[in-house]
Amino acid sequence: MSCPVQHGTVTLDPYVKDLRAEREILHAAGPVTRVELPGGVTAWAVTRHEAARAALTDPRLVKDVAHWDDFQQGRIPEAWPLLSTIPPTPTNLLGTDGAEHRRLRLLTAKAFSARRVERLRPRVRELTVGLLDALEAGAHEPLDLKNEFAFKLPMSVIGELYGVEEAEHGYLRDMYVKFFSAVTSPREFMETYATLERYYDGMIEAKRAEPGDDLTTELLNAGEDGDALSDLEVRGTLQVVVAAGHETTVNLLCNAVRALLAHPEQFDLVKEGRVGWDAVVEETLRFDPPTSNMVFRFATEDVELGGRTIRKGEALMTSYGAISRDRDEHGEEPHPDTFDLTRERGHHISFGYGPHVCPGSHLARMEGQIALPLLFERFPDLRLAVADEELENHPSIVVNSLKELPVLLRPQG
Ligand code: HEM
Repeated sequence: MSCPVQHGTVTLDPYVKDLRAEREILHAAGPVTRVELPGGVTAWAVTRHEAARAALTDPRLVKDVAHWDDFQQGRIPEAWPLLSTIPPTPTNLLGTDGAEHRRLRLLTAKAFSARRVERLRPRVRELTVGLLDALEAGAHEPLDLKNEFAFKLPMSVIGELYGVEEAEHGYLRDMYVKFFSAVTSPREFMETYATLERYYDGMIEAKRAEPGDDLTTELLNAGEDGDALSDLEVRGTLQVVVAAGHETTVNLLCNAVRALLAHPEQFDLVKEGRVGWDAVVEETLRFDPPTSNMVFRFATEDVELGGRTIRKGEALMTSYGAISRDRDEHGEEPHPDTFDLTRERGHHISFGYGPHVCPGSHLARMEGQIALPLLFERFPDLRLAVADEELENHPSIVVNSLKELPVLLRPQG
């Protein structure tokens, strides 16, 4: 079994060999359970809706790593892979709480507003069509749809949101890969980080000199009565958009394509116009959430949650994969482990809940609802180039990413 339970602790598989089974085991372990993460680090996981909603709105569970005893007392290995997800000095939306976080949310609200995002709609369409055109030449051979399509669109859309030229979208993507996937040493990490900082500082300077109709300019102009975002905070917000908004959206697109191809009877409902693409996006977010486990919140005092006590100084993660299997929220029939576009009961919380709920959800939904129908209109016979069971997960307990999504776009010659 990929994910053994010993003395009430669930050991998460760093290679993510069987995500489906892992979600069920976490779900069965109760609303809040002990988990062992790669490197022998232990934490709590919240795995059901009700307990997750309580945790995500509890002001005693905070993002600041200063409250994590294991970290402060040197019990976390220096090269622990998940350390890069925990900012040492939290100055951005994801890493702050309370009044500091409320201030940042308020000052950035307009930049993320549905109105601003809606203005991008025609460009998202154009960018999608451009990527599909580029796929035509290799349409008769197997290709990796993740790399050639799903990985490209979200970063291009973020580039548009930032207000940078299309020619720079590839640079942003390369930096992302370097920063999140290809870093081999702490020194390389710091160098890449410094390069990115310089890039963002240059962007801020350029937008200050020549404002545009974009998120960067909106952030620079945010606030009144003497309270504005500092350049550091603008940079932090731009960085967090990539960290929180790129790979998650890549996963949404890949997971939706995979789910539709694996469930032709459900896909028929879409083709026959009996359900919309919005249902495809929402059921994918529930069935196969882009983030498996969101790390971490730390207890500033003892917290009772789901019948367990999270002691002051302990860490808790939000297990969106397991939460999506919650029978209390989604019922037994259809079983939460089935992809069902006509599902009526329950609402997923794959965009989070409470003060940190995702401000990019409108954009992510819009991308899914534009890109997926355009992809299948262009390539109606699109199919997997391997069996579904052969698809492998990227070895991460945080992101729910496929390593590759090999497809044939035009299988019939
Ligand atoms: C399907 C795609 C996406 C998913 C599943 C997703 C999921 C999430 C989740 C679960 C959180 C809450 C984290 C927490 O509680 O600590 C979050 C926060 C955030 N997301 Fe998204 N996200 C997606 C796309 C995006 C996009 C496209 C953007 C930006 C354009 C974005 C920007 C952010 C930001 C800035 C935060 C931090 C908010 C805060 O902490 O106050 N996300 N996202």
